[in-house]
Amino acid sequence: MPAGGFVVGDGHTAYPGKLTPYVLFTCVVAAMGGLIFGYDIGISGGVTSMPSFLRRFFPSVYRKQQEEATTNQYCQYDSVTLTLFTSSLYLAALISSLVASTVTRRFGRRLSMLFGGILFCAGALINGFAKHVWMLIVGRILLGFGIGFANQSVPLYLSEMAPYKYRGSLNIGFQLSITIGILVAEVLNYFFAKIKGGWGWRLSLGGAVVPALIITLGSLVLPDTPNSMIDRGLHDEAKTKLRRIRGVEDVSQEFDDLVAASKESQSIEDPWRNLLRRKYRPHLTMAIMIPFFQQLTGINVIMFYAPVLFNTIGFTTDASLMSAVVTGSVNVAATLVSIYGVDKWGRRFLFIEGGTQMLICQAVVAACIGAKFGVDGTPGELPKWYAIVVVTFICIYVAGFAWSWGPLGWLVPSEIFPLEIRSAAQSITVSVNMIFTFIIAQVFLMMLCHLKFGLFLFFAFFVVVMSIFIYIFLPETKGIPIEEMGQVWRSHWYWSRFVEDGEYGNAVEMGKSSNQGTKNV
Ligand code: BGC
Repeated sequence: MPAGGFVVGDGHTAYPGKLTPYVLFTCVVAAMGGLIFGYDIGISGGVTSMPSFLRRFFPSVYRKQQEEATTNQYCQYDSVTLTLFTSSLYLAALISSLVASTVTRRFGRRLSMLFGGILFCAGALINGFAKHVWMLIVGRILLGFGIGFANQSVPLYLSEMAPYKYRGSLNIGFQLSITIGILVAEVLNYFFAKIKGGWGWRLSLGGAVVPALIITLGSLVLPDTPNSMIDRGLHDEAKTKLRRIRGVEDVSQEFDDLVAASKESQSIEDPWRNLLRRKYRPHLTMAIMIPFFQQLTGINVIMFYAPVLFNTIGFTTDASLMSAVVTGSVNVAATLVSIYGVDKWGRRFLFIEGGTQMLICQAVVAACIGAKFGVDGTPGELPKWYAIVVVTFICIYVAGFAWSWGPLGWLVPSEIFPLEIRSAAQSITVSVNMIFTFIIAQVFLMMLCHLKFGLFLFFAFFVVVMSIFIYIFLPETKGIPIEEMGQVWRSHWYWSRFVEDGEYGNAVEMGKSSNQGTKNV
């Protein structure tokens, strides 16, 4: 057998390798890093609608809720400190993902995951035992640091570990854990809210220790990725590891390409400045636009505030938490669809289909809420069928997100960056995601108060823009080895002018030409 891989019809190298139990195990463990992020997303909305929690930490919101039960429903939760509680975490995550970039690059993806788990553990404990608002906020900041590290390293880890043919599915394990984390948090909120004595929120917040321990212990047993080992000069270990991961003896082609990519990456002194070079324009654009658009789908309005939102449209606290559990289950189930289809149907198809689905639902929900609440926010008696229609369309919307922008918002950036900018560019993706998660968490309640049902139309507008953006600018990345991604830009009608032949991915091409074993099929 000749050394290495062979070039397939569409011009990229097909490296040998299977989906070994070992790679499956490492990817499942690493993907659990998403649990901490998801748990947190799911827990905040439920906790902030528990009366005992509000009475203790946000008495003014509590009073307003009690007094104004029959007046303007759009504005009852509008409080800056309450939203600061939810959103402080995202600012912290933003800052730490920038620090994580250096740790991930210099010391490996695994160490960043470990830091993430430990910081998150500390934050969960402080929150569970909180006595004052400041303890809540400090706890949330630590959780945010944890999330910054985990979200920076886990998607990269998965994309580097996975055999390229299964990269989409394995990477979406991360999003699957996010959605499981959200769902578990919502179910727990539902039960903890019922605890007599009103201290259930302590269990909800403190419960974050469990996913934190999973990723902390998980990162201790995981190996680092061969890409990262090579980048740190550990060539022999990397080759042995690559054989074990791929389950084949002959990994020389992939190994050579990784070494070549690493050489190129070593020649870069400042990965941040490097990102501004013309040839990285497509990557930088995607690193910024994909997370920006992901948040502008409006998904987190549902994720953070589903109980609050359902409460606003006339459900009792109990029914609201229950409906949030329903949307949470849809979120998990639809992510499985994406795991199944992403490497078959491709990324672009899912983006466009999901976008269309979300758009239709947003229009229907806006019309329903507008028709019942009008502009003054006084609904009168709400019939049951009405609530069912709203929840159904919200579920279809969540499904649309969960098989498109949800997973792809993490997958696509992590697979398109060449090694020399990978860690820095991924930090940009995480930071942009966090800034816009923060902005939306911070202004949503205010926007609901002022834009009323028009809020859903606001997000619908962005869904149209992002779908057009994907259609025009995002090339298909399905089934292309990660170190060979350069070709998708070179053959793109627009990006090819930035990424000229020979200018991008030189190193990998050199690696390939030095390998006599390649043959065309
Ligand atoms: C997003 C989160 C969102 C979650 C919902 C993730 O991909 O980054 O902001 O809350 O999906 O499942």
